[in-house]
Amino acid sequence: MSEVLKAIKERRSVRVFGDGAVAAEELDAILEAASYAPSAMNAQACHVTALVGLPRISELNDALKLASALPGFDRYRDYVGQKSYSVNFFRAPLFLIVGVDKIRSFCPVEDGSMVMANILLAAHGLGLGAVWVNQLGAVGNEPTFRKVLTSFGFPPTHDIIGSAAVGRLGGPNPPAPPRMPGQSNIVTA
Ligand SMILES: Cc1cc2nc3c(=O)[nH]c(=O)nc-3n(C[C@H](O)[C@H](O)[C@H](O)COP(=O)(O)O)c2cc1C
Repeated sequence: MSEVLKAIKERRSVRVFGDGAVAAEELDAILEAASYAPSAMNAQACHVTALVGLPRISELNDALKLASALPGFDRYRDYVGQKSYSVNFFRAPLFLIVGVDKIRSFCPVEDGSMVMANILLAAHGLGLGAVWVNQLGAVGNEPTFRKVLTSFGFPPTHDIIGSAAVGRLGGPNPPAPPRMPGQSNIVTA
Protein backbone atom coordinates (compact mmCIF):
# COMPACT_ATOMS: atom_id res chain seq x y z
CA MET A 1 0.00 0.00 0.00
CA SER A 2 1.29 3.50 -0.75
CA GLU A 3 2.66 5.52 2.16
CA VAL A 4 -0.10 8.08 1.67
CA LEU A 5 -2.90 5.51 1.78
CA LYS A 6 -1.31 3.88 4.83
CA ALA A 7 -1.11 7.24 6.61
CA ILE A 8 -4.73 8.04 5.81
CA LYS A 9 -5.85 4.72 7.28
CA GLU A 10 -3.61 4.80 10.33
CA ARG A 11 -4.16 8.42 11.42
CA ARG A 12 -6.26 8.63 14.57
CA SER A 13 -7.53 11.47 16.72
CA VAL A 14 -5.05 11.57 19.58
CA ARG A 15 -6.21 13.05 22.89
CA VAL A 16 -3.50 11.77 25.23
CA PHE A 17 -0.11 13.36 24.78
CA GLY A 18 3.26 12.33 26.16
CA ASP A 19 5.95 14.57 27.58
CA GLY A 20 8.07 16.55 25.22
CA ALA A 21 7.63 19.49 22.94
CA VAL A 22 7.06 19.45 19.22
CA ALA A 23 10.43 20.34 17.68
CA ALA A 24 10.76 23.53 15.64
CA GLU A 25 11.53 21.49 12.49
CA GLU A 26 8.42 19.38 13.06
CA LEU A 27 6.29 22.50 13.43
CA ASP A 28 7.83 23.95 10.25
CA ALA A 29 7.01 20.73 8.39
CA ILE A 30 3.40 20.81 9.60
CA LEU A 31 2.99 24.47 8.60
CA GLU A 32 4.51 23.76 5.20
CA ALA A 33 2.11 20.84 4.68
CA ALA A 34 -0.76 23.17 5.68
CA SER A 35 0.36 25.71 3.08
CA TYR A 36 0.24 23.02 0.36
CA ALA A 37 -3.47 22.29 0.84
CA PRO A 38 -5.62 22.70 -2.25
CA SER A 39 -7.93 25.71 -2.31
CA ALA A 40 -10.81 26.73 -4.55
CA MET A 41 -9.48 28.83 -7.46
CA ASN A 42 -6.08 28.52 -5.77
CA ALA A 43 -7.05 31.40 -3.48
CA GLN A 44 -4.66 30.21 -0.71
CA ALA A 45 -6.67 32.38 1.70
CA CYS A 46 -5.99 30.42 4.88
CA HIS A 47 -3.70 31.25 7.77
CA VAL A 48 -2.39 29.15 10.66
CA THR A 49 -1.50 30.61 14.06
CA ALA A 50 0.71 28.27 16.10
CA LEU A 51 0.70 28.54 19.89
CA VAL A 52 3.75 26.82 21.33
CA GLY A 53 3.77 25.76 24.99
CA LEU A 54 1.21 25.58 27.77
CA PRO A 55 1.33 29.22 28.98
CA ARG A 56 0.08 30.63 25.66
CA ILE A 57 -2.31 27.73 25.13
CA SER A 58 -3.76 28.30 28.63
CA GLU A 59 -4.33 31.95 27.74
CA LEU A 60 -6.43 30.84 24.79
CA ASN A 61 -8.26 28.21 26.83
CA ASP A 62 -9.12 30.77 29.54
CA ALA A 63 -10.41 33.21 26.91
CA LEU A 64 -12.49 30.43 25.36
CA LYS A 65 -14.06 29.56 28.70
CA LEU A 66 -14.89 33.21 29.45
CA ALA A 67 -16.40 33.85 26.01
CA SER A 68 -18.35 30.61 26.04
CA ALA A 69 -20.12 31.72 29.24
CA LEU A 70 -21.46 34.92 27.63
CA PRO A 71 -25.08 35.07 26.50
CA GLY A 72 -25.32 34.54 22.77
CA PHE A 73 -22.04 32.63 22.63
CA ASP A 74 -23.13 29.78 24.81
CA ARG A 75 -23.46 27.02 22.26
CA TYR A 76 -20.86 25.02 24.17
CA ARG A 77 -21.35 26.68 27.57
CA ASP A 78 -22.34 23.59 29.56
CA TYR A 79 -19.66 21.57 27.89
CA VAL A 80 -16.87 24.13 28.15
CA GLY A 81 -17.83 24.97 31.74
CA GLN A 82 -17.08 21.45 32.91
CA LYS A 83 -13.91 21.26 34.94
CA SER A 84 -12.71 18.35 32.88
CA TYR A 85 -13.33 20.08 29.59
CA SER A 86 -10.38 19.48 27.27
CA VAL A 87 -8.06 20.64 30.09
CA ASN A 88 -5.96 23.11 28.17
CA PHE A 89 -6.87 21.30 25.00
CA PHE A 90 -5.69 17.93 26.33
CA ARG A 91 -2.48 19.58 27.62
CA ALA A 92 -0.98 19.35 24.16
CA PRO A 93 2.27 21.31 23.77
CA LEU A 94 1.21 22.78 20.43
CA PHE A 95 -2.07 24.31 19.36
CA LEU A 96 -2.84 25.37 15.78
CA ILE A 97 -5.66 27.70 14.80
CA VAL A 98 -6.74 27.68 11.16
CA GLY A 99 -8.39 30.82 9.85
CA VAL A 100 -9.71 31.76 6.44
CA ASP A 101 -10.24 35.10 4.76
CA LYS A 102 -13.93 34.77 3.90
CA ILE A 103 -13.73 37.53 1.31
CA ARG A 104 -10.77 36.10 -0.59
CA SER A 105 -11.77 32.45 -0.30
CA PHE A 106 -14.34 31.06 -2.72
CA CYS A 107 -15.12 28.14 -0.40
CA PRO A 108 -14.07 29.13 3.13
CA VAL A 109 -15.15 26.04 5.06
CA GLU A 110 -13.83 23.68 2.41
CA ASP A 111 -10.51 25.51 2.04
CA GLY A 112 -9.98 25.61 5.80
CA SER A 113 -10.94 21.97 6.19
CA MET A 114 -8.37 20.95 3.57
CA VAL A 115 -5.73 22.79 5.62
CA MET A 116 -6.92 21.00 8.76
CA ALA A 117 -6.71 17.63 6.98
CA ASN A 118 -3.14 18.35 5.91
CA ILE A 119 -2.22 19.33 9.47
CA LEU A 120 -3.67 16.13 10.96
CA LEU A 121 -1.99 13.94 8.34
CA ALA A 122 1.34 15.77 8.54
CA ALA A 123 1.39 15.35 12.33
CA HIS A 124 0.71 11.64 11.89
CA GLY A 125 3.39 11.36 9.23
CA LEU A 126 5.91 12.83 11.67
CA GLY A 127 4.98 10.28 14.34
CA LEU A 128 3.06 12.88 16.36
CA GLY A 129 -0.56 12.85 17.48
CA ALA A 130 -3.23 15.44 16.76
CA VAL A 131 -6.93 16.05 17.17
CA TRP A 132 -9.33 18.58 15.69
CA VAL A 133 -10.75 20.88 18.40
CA ASN A 134 -14.01 22.39 17.29
CA GLN A 135 -15.18 24.84 19.93
CA LEU A 136 -13.26 27.99 18.96
CA GLY A 137 -15.33 28.85 15.90
CA ALA A 138 -18.49 29.54 17.88
CA VAL A 139 -16.82 32.39 19.80
CA GLY A 140 -14.28 33.40 17.16
CA ASN A 141 -15.84 36.82 16.59
CA GLU A 142 -16.82 37.58 20.20
CA PRO A 143 -14.91 40.80 20.96
CA THR A 144 -12.99 39.75 24.11
CA PHE A 145 -12.01 36.44 22.56
CA ARG A 146 -11.08 38.13 19.30
CA LYS A 147 -8.81 40.50 21.22
CA VAL A 148 -6.84 37.54 22.54
CA LEU A 149 -6.70 35.98 19.07
CA THR A 150 -5.43 39.24 17.60
CA SER A 151 -2.76 39.46 20.29
CA PHE A 152 -1.49 36.13 18.96
CA GLY A 153 -1.22 37.54 15.44
CA PHE A 154 -4.34 35.82 14.10
CA PRO A 155 -5.41 38.04 11.16
CA PRO A 156 -8.41 40.30 11.90
CA THR A 157 -9.76 39.55 8.41
CA HIS A 158 -9.98 35.81 9.10
CA ASP A 159 -12.62 33.54 10.62
CA ILE A 160 -11.73 30.40 12.50
CA ILE A 161 -12.46 27.19 10.62
CA GLY A 162 -10.88 24.72 13.01
CA SER A 163 -8.05 24.14 15.41
CA ALA A 164 -5.81 21.24 16.33
CA ALA A 165 -4.04 20.09 19.49
CA VAL A 166 -0.73 18.47 18.53
CA GLY A 167 1.92 16.65 20.55
CA ARG A 168 3.96 13.51 21.09
CA LEU A 169 1.97 10.28 21.36
CA GLY A 170 0.98 9.48 24.93
CA GLY A 171 0.31 5.82 24.19
CA PRO A 172 -0.57 3.45 21.40
CA ASN A 173 -3.11 4.71 18.91
CA PRO A 174 -6.53 3.11 19.23
CA PRO A 175 -7.73 1.13 16.23
CA ALA A 176 -9.90 2.96 13.72
CA PRO A 177 -13.60 2.95 14.57
CA PRO A 178 -15.46 0.53 12.28
CA ARG A 179 -16.46 2.15 9.00
CA MET A 180 -20.16 2.81 8.49
CA PRO A 181 -21.58 0.85 5.57
CA GLY A 182 -22.99 2.59 2.51
CA GLN A 183 -20.47 5.43 2.29
CA SER A 184 -19.90 5.05 -1.42
CA ASN A 185 -21.29 3.48 -4.54
CA ILE A 186 -19.77 2.75 -7.90
CA VAL A 187 -21.56 3.24 -11.18
CA THR A 188 -20.23 1.43 -14.22
CA ALA A 189 -21.20 1.44 -17.87
C1 LIG B 1 -15.06 18.86 12.09
C2 LIG B 1 -14.53 18.01 13.22
C3 LIG B 1 -14.64 18.47 14.52
C4 LIG B 1 -14.12 17.71 15.58
N1 LIG B 1 -14.15 18.23 16.83
C5 LIG B 1 -13.60 17.54 17.85
C6 LIG B 1 -13.52 18.11 19.15
O1 LIG B 1 -13.94 19.25 19.37
N2 LIG B 1 -12.98 17.38 20.15
C7 LIG B 1 -12.47 16.12 19.93
O2 LIG B 1 -11.98 15.49 20.86
N3 LIG B 1 -12.50 15.55 18.69
C8 LIG B 1 -13.03 16.24 17.65
N4 LIG B 1 -13.03 15.71 16.38
C9 LIG B 1 -12.44 14.38 16.14
C10 LIG B 1 -13.51 13.31 15.90
O3 LIG B 1 -14.17 13.01 17.11
C11 LIG B 1 -12.83 12.06 15.30
O4 LIG B 1 -12.28 12.40 14.05
C12 LIG B 1 -13.79 10.90 15.14
O5 LIG B 1 -14.25 10.44 16.38
C13 LIG B 1 -13.15 9.72 14.38
O6 LIG B 1 -11.97 9.29 15.04
P1 LIG B 1 -10.57 9.27 14.27
O7 LIG B 1 -10.21 10.69 13.91
O8 LIG B 1 -9.60 8.65 15.22
O9 LIG B 1 -10.74 8.45 13.02
C14 LIG B 1 -13.52 16.45 15.32
C15 LIG B 1 -13.41 16.00 13.99
C16 LIG B 1 -13.89 16.77 12.96
C17 LIG B 1 -13.72 16.29 11.53
